[in-house]
Amino acid sequence: MVLSAAPILVTGGTGQLATALLAARGRRAMLHAGRPDFDFDRLDSISACLRAAAPSLIINAAAYTAVDRAESEPDAARRANTDGPRLIAEYCAATNTPLIHISTDYVFDGEKHAPYLETDPTNPTTIYGTTKRDGEDAILATGAPAIILRTAWVYAATGRNFVLTMLNAAKKTTELRVVADQTGCPTAAHDLAAVIIRIADRIATAGWSAQWRGLYHAAGSGATTWHGLATATFAEAAQYGTTPPTIIPIATADWPTPARRPANSRLDCSKLGRTFGIALPDWRNALSRTLKIVYNVK
Ligand SMILES: NC(=O)c1ccc[n+]([C@@H]2O[C@H](COP(=O)([O-])OP(=O)(O)OC[C@H]3O[C@@H](n4cnc5c(N)ncnc54)[C@H](OP(=O)(O)O)[C@@H]3O)[C@@H](O)[C@H]2O)c1
Repeated sequence: MVLSAAPILVTGGTGQLATALLAARGRRAMLHAGRPDFDFDRLDSISACLRAAAPSLIINAAAYTAVDRAESEPDAARRANTDGPRLIAEYCAATNTPLIHISTDYVFDGEKHAPYLETDPTNPTTIYGTTKRDGEDAILATGAPAIILRTAWVYAATGRNFVLTMLNAAKKTTELRVVADQTGCPTAAHDLAAVIIRIADRIATAGWSAQWRGLYHAAGSGATTWHGLATATFAEAAQYGTTPPTIIPIATADWPTPARRPANSRLDCSKLGRTFGIALPDWRNALSRTLKIVYNVK
């Protein structure tokens, strides 16, 4: 399949990843679909939007991402994370349009004592993870030319994310209790956006290759706990005048939440390297670059 000059379509309103994609490539180089025109709660809006755009490639960065709220809104999570992606993939299968879809480390139960491979069995422990896993399966079942990138612990200089939550919390208190027994791979949205654009460019220049179809892990290199990420965030922020709070490590059991997150959600990203020659930067390096943006440092 050789692609036409039609534009790339990015879904995902004001989300972290959609914003990073549009910033990386320039708003005029990509079509952008967000609510209310593109709304997984109105599935007819998805088909209409895709038909009108007739893109050369679709990047689906839209999702229901409120992990705890999903426990009480399973239908909304399923519409956005399973039914909507299935519809996009059906369009892609029918029109031979490549799809880059984003999924999550929370498809795993966290019981493995090593980084997860794409071939490891899924067993989500949350509604969010279940609906995302079902979205992966639904996409692959359509036969669409699809690349599914599972990422993890996404943050950016804007949006709703753990790093900004920590920085904001420290404005109100001198002591923070942070979970220290969940391990994962923090991923800067701008690094993930750069990976996606490299893959999209490869598809545009070389044409779609059927061997690319399937699952990939795409997260920041290295791993830490939420406590480690908070500690590193304040170590960086101290350079810019923020007084670090005391960060007390606690267990998941001491911070009950509606959704039970996996203890280990580290992702082995070597398939992404083998297939596309891409590795995301070390998470500390990415955090440092992101905090420069937060604090407006050149
Ligand atoms: N954030 C993480 O830590 C994390 C971790 C692993 C995987 N991921 C995956 O990475 C991808 C990007 O996440 P992100 O961090 O950029 O998420 P985000 O900042 O929460 O953005 C999600 C976007 O999806 C849109 N959206 C939500 N419900 C929708 C609906 N019913 N119809 C249409 N659009 C809807 C939102 O639109 P509005 O702008 O209108 O609200 C928002 O722009 C998602 O697939 C997510 O599952 C994220």
